Amino acid sequence: AMNKDLEGKKILVTAGPTKEPIDPVRYITNHSSGKMGYAVAEKAAARGAQVILISGPTNLKKPIGVKIIDINTANEMYKAVLDHFEWADIVIKSAAVADYRPSFVSDNKIKKGDNDFSIQLTRNPDILMELGKRKKNNQVLVGFAAETQNILENAKKKIEKKNLDFIVANDLMKKGAGFNSDTNIATIIDKDGYIEHCEKMEKKELADKILDKAKILLEE
Ligand code: PMT
Repeated sequence: AMNKDLEGKKILVTAGPTKEPIDPVRYITNHSSGKMGYAVAEKAAARGAQVILISGPTNLKKPIGVKIIDINTANEMYKAVLDHFEWADIVIKSAAVADYRPSFVSDNKIKKGDNDFSIQLTRNPDILMELGKRKKNNQVLVGFAAETQNILENAKKKIEKKNLDFIVANDLMKKGAGFNSDTNIATIIDKDGYIEHCEKMEKKELADKILDKAKILLEE
């Protein structure tokens, strides 16, 4: 059996997509299934941590021993995460948050016409950026980076800009990595520039690796 090496630790995890409504029947979302974040939450709880999982809409079973807060939009996730940030020792942000939302949400179903139709979008708050500003010395902040190009370069920029301890970058173009698969192929980059390329592995195994590293940094 796995030892309870995270006993007493408080871990906040985000998972899944956000859903940004257009009208009562339509929304904008992305391909996140929630599997990566749920794997982190499940493993953290199995290792004895107190876990709060802030989850966008997914079809996954609730992991045992995890407190789940369900949200739909990026703004709802922002509020839920900020409400629990001070509580947390470690924050792991696996969610795929929509960067934009429709500027206007129609109360009624939008009727089709003969012409083309466009939707104006408004920037959503960057949750991770806000956490980076508020982070205390005794907190570890872990981001993800979902990229299709210049992975290392973009991931390094995010570490600095968002004041992260480390980032887990996954290449969405690789088979067996990123959205929806049970496996992932990740590169872990920390704020000191240390880079670890991981083989393709189960998301649950990657979750343990992420938790191992967060635990070491927390204890430093
Ligand atoms: O859910 P799965 O199907 O298992 O897929 C897993 C995954 C591909 C979604 C996951 O591994 C992953 O990479 N998650 C982050 C996806 C993402 O939105 O990356 P990004 O590069 O756009 O954002 C970088 C970081 O900022 C992320 O930690 C994200 O949670 C955070 N962010 C982004 C935008 C925003 N408005 N607020 C945020 O906090």
